[in-house]
Amino acid sequence: MTKVRKAVIPVAGWGTRFLPATKAMPKEMLTVVDKPVVQYALEEARAAGIEEFIFVTGRGKQTIENHFDRSFELEDVLEEKGRLEDLELLKDITPPEGCVMYTRQARRRGLGHAVLCAKSAVGDEPFAVLLPDDIVFGYNERVPLKEMVETFEEHQKSVVLCMEVAKENTKRYGILDTGGTVPQGDVLPVQGFVEKPAEGKAPSNMAVMGRYVFTPEVWALLEKTEPGAGGEIQLTDAMETLAKEQGFMGQVLDGIRLDCGDRPGFVKANIFMALNHPELKGEIASFIKELDIDNPQASSLEKVK
Ligand code: G1P
Repeated sequence: MTKVRKAVIPVAGWGTRFLPATKAMPKEMLTVVDKPVVQYALEEARAAGIEEFIFVTGRGKQTIENHFDRSFELEDVLEEKGRLEDLELLKDITPPEGCVMYTRQARRRGLGHAVLCAKSAVGDEPFAVLLPDDIVFGYNERVPLKEMVETFEEHQKSVVLCMEVAKENTKRYGILDTGGTVPQGDVLPVQGFVEKPAEGKAPSNMAVMGRYVFTPEVWALLEKTEPGAGGEIQLTDAMETLAKEQGFMGQVLDGIRLDCGDRPGFVKANIFMALNHPELKGEIASFIKELDIDNPQASSLEKVK
């Protein structure tokens, strides 16, 4: 049985929803508390046993490469100052040499096309895809991608992470056609997919949550995929065919998903993660409690310690 060893992390988007923050900085480098968004995806992939990471980048994304590389000057400074904990932190970020690859998508032509740009780096083996806009974690320290890899190993079918969303929100996601099946435990068979269905056209309320494990047969399908929703080559359209040809499994997320793909989601992710951060929790929680929600400027923030 082939192991899932490689992960593709698409980071080529323009990030126009975050302007002006993203004028000269990749949106994937915006920080949720103290880590850039993209680091959460890399950490999840490593925790799932992934050994090679392929970033599909584009113009202006060099800081992502620098972030996952060593910074000797900074290491020297921290060593001189005896800041060993920070030094360890830096080492933890950097994957082993030779395990990270960067390939560019020259034109923004959609998620399906971005993933296809990683074809020769992945080759003829199963692989994972992680969309860094989604930060996900399972309850009780469970790692969603790790569970998806286990589901792949058991069923030998492609797997997608999914979660039930409100009916009015189905138009924002790739939606699963579950054929009315209910999950057995956390897993359910999927019959097909629709990308961002029009109001009232969603085949279910189960939405794709930015984590995928694919069989290598997806490459041929991506090569044949014509532009779909929004005039872009959609990953979801290739998944629809893959589901019909090979079957597909949905892994229901038993945990939290934070959508960092737009401004409200990004701010919520920061609040959530700050309240989860052992060093920040207390101060941020009392700050929020002291806020006058209807008139923030009337809050007596000087009282906040
Ligand atoms: C992408 C995918 C969509 C998925 C979503 C999850 O859409 O195309 O199928 O449900 O990510 O976050 P985007 O949010 O990039 O428009």
